[in-house]
Amino acid sequence: MAFLKNLKNQPIDGELAIALSKSYPLYKHGFVKVGEKKWFLPYKCAEQDNINKILNFEIRPDDTWIISYPRSGTTLTQELTWLVANDLNFDEARQRTLIERFPYLDLGLILEDDVLANDTPEEQKISKYSIEFVQNQPSPRFIKSHFPLDLLPTVVNNDCKIIYVARNVKSVAVSWYYFQKDLKLYEGTFEQMCDDFMNDHLMWTPYWEHVKTAWAIRHKPNVLFLFYEDLRKNLVENIKKIATFFGKTYNEVQIVKLAEHLNIENFRKNPMVNRHMPTQRGNPKVFIRQGKTDGWKELFTLELEKRFNKWIVDNLKDTDLIFPN
Ligand code: A3P
Repeated sequence: MAFLKNLKNQPIDGELAIALSKSYPLYKHGFVKVGEKKWFLPYKCAEQDNINKILNFEIRPDDTWIISYPRSGTTLTQELTWLVANDLNFDEARQRTLIERFPYLDLGLILEDDVLANDTPEEQKISKYSIEFVQNQPSPRFIKSHFPLDLLPTVVNNDCKIIYVARNVKSVAVSWYYFQKDLKLYEGTFEQMCDDFMNDHLMWTPYWEHVKTAWAIRHKPNVLFLFYEDLRKNLVENIKKIATFFGKTYNEVQIVKLAEHLNIENFRKNPMVNRHMPTQRGNPKVFIRQGKTDGWKELFTLELEKRFNKWIVDNLKDTDLIFPN
């Protein structure tokens, strides 16, 4: 394996690799820990050519990036942002899929080639949304990524717009579990997945580093840091906040129409936002599920909650990052 020379990369092997291969049967080439912070990524992401393309991605000042840890409300934030930035062009939003309007940088790298080869023709079309596809989008570009900001140095060192969305980590865990289970990406139990989460053995972990890196730059004028729970509680206020970020003003009627469009029931029925991913096998429930802020309680035992709470406290003690209740 050839890796980028100035990034420390550590292939995962031995007993850990064997254990992980049981949980992640689709990832035949295994995982790698990338860089100082040891980002846990599939082998394909960490190959030199691919990591180089990510690290050197050519940014344009009129780009808008949405970065998040998976299952944090990315899709909702993408649709909201795209509409606000594009003068509430509902006609286009109803005709072009979100992934075409707002492509996903990581997509071609997170699934192994033989998995992508089994996709339906429609899904294969989506899997061709490679880094080059994203790069060659006409301006202004809207780009989603789950890569942490320190693997996206060209984004951070630019004045393009960056929106980061974070969510209560227990809700992320439950949502991430159902998502990976439905797509057969992860075959372990919920408890095992939580251990892998806390031990930084889930994709794009370490989770806290992911969030804290974005939190650290939240005061920059080109950065907006949002919480899923706030979006759920105060959608109208957040629409206004995002509109201000883009220098747009909308009246109450327009805002109510947008809020209605973003309502999870309407979202669920909207094929432009709920068909999103290769290997989704047309299942719209994969992306748009419950949208609850307390749904995590269904899967957490008291013992697991205790361990999670300790993990949260340990990781928040050196920061002023506070999640909404
Ligand atoms: P749940 O699995 O808890 O329901 P992401 O887009 O980052 O993958 O986040 C997915 C989470 O956002 C899922 O959470 C999903 O149901 C929720 N979600 C998607 N669209 C939504 C909407 N329009 N309103 C509220 N929540 C939404």
